[in-house]
Amino acid sequence: MKLRSIELALPQAAQAAAFMTDVWNLAPAEVRGSTHYLRGTGTQPYLIALEESAAPFVRSTTFVCTAERIARIAAAVSARGLMAKPVVSDDPGGGEGLLVELPEGLILRFLSGVGEVAPLTNRDMPVQLTHCVFNAADAEAMGSAVEDLLDFRVSDRTKAMVFVRCNTSHHSTAFARAGFSSLNHVAFEMDDLDAVMRGIGRLRDHGMTPAWGPGRHGPGDNAFAYYIAPFGAVIEYSTAVEKVPEDYRVGAPEDWTWPPNRIDQWGISDKATAALREAEERFRCRRDWQGAPLDPILEGKA
Ligand SMILES: [Fe+2]
Repeated sequence: MKLRSIELALPQAAQAAAFMTDVWNLAPAEVRGSTHYLRGTGTQPYLIALEESAAPFVRSTTFVCTAERIARIAAAVSARGLMAKPVVSDDPGGGEGLLVELPEGLILRFLSGVGEVAPLTNRDMPVQLTHCVFNAADAEAMGSAVEDLLDFRVSDRTKAMVFVRCNTSHHSTAFARAGFSSLNHVAFEMDDLDAVMRGIGRLRDHGMTPAWGPGRHGPGDNAFAYYIAPFGAVIEYSTAVEKVPEDYRVGAPEDWTWPPNRIDQWGISDKATAALREAEERFRCRRDWQGAPLDPILEGKA
């Protein structure tokens, strides 16, 4: 199982795509209709889809895995009476699988049989997504749901988050104890620490400073720099999160405390808390896909 991509809908998708290529340094993959697909240097056909929409929302977050794993997820979801529907992807890379609506309206898509593309060589571009984090009304319940339904594993708990893994990487998602449901941030994995720092320099050339960072997180041990994109989402340059063994001891909030006035391992980062919070509320999870067809993508793929 691997996190592949996130599909966002938003106003002025073309402008958002221009920022994500010209400044953030993704490469254009394809444009299909009003949807812009952008890729990194890895083998995934795209990492982020930006689709024109009147209001911003998270259409889906896509994981790739085997058909057998999808069948197990389908059985678990149906046993719990949760919403799921078979899906054939018409995004780049194709594939088929299952859309699952988790509690709080978070829609995850699981695909098998997806195509890959030849990697690119450019150490200043993001490689792939390392994690997508969501705000949750009940982060503990969301952590339990993905353990029970999807066979994910909780890696760590902090005062702020429940970190969850779907393979040996410490987390591919996390649920923030926010009191509401929305996209918290999307993290793009860079080659190494130098690539993260050069990314900060490139954004500085464009007049942008990090909303949080640079710094190094506790859980996951990744170096980070968070930005509020002009289109409103919080995006992160990150090094890869640490690999953990199957028997990794689940950390508790008291395992992850900082000395006074410090919020990262290096003790150097400042955080624009209010601005981040506002941005983290912007991309809501869809709650309303039951009943009548809601939009061409969900309708057409069912
Ligand atoms: Fe992150």
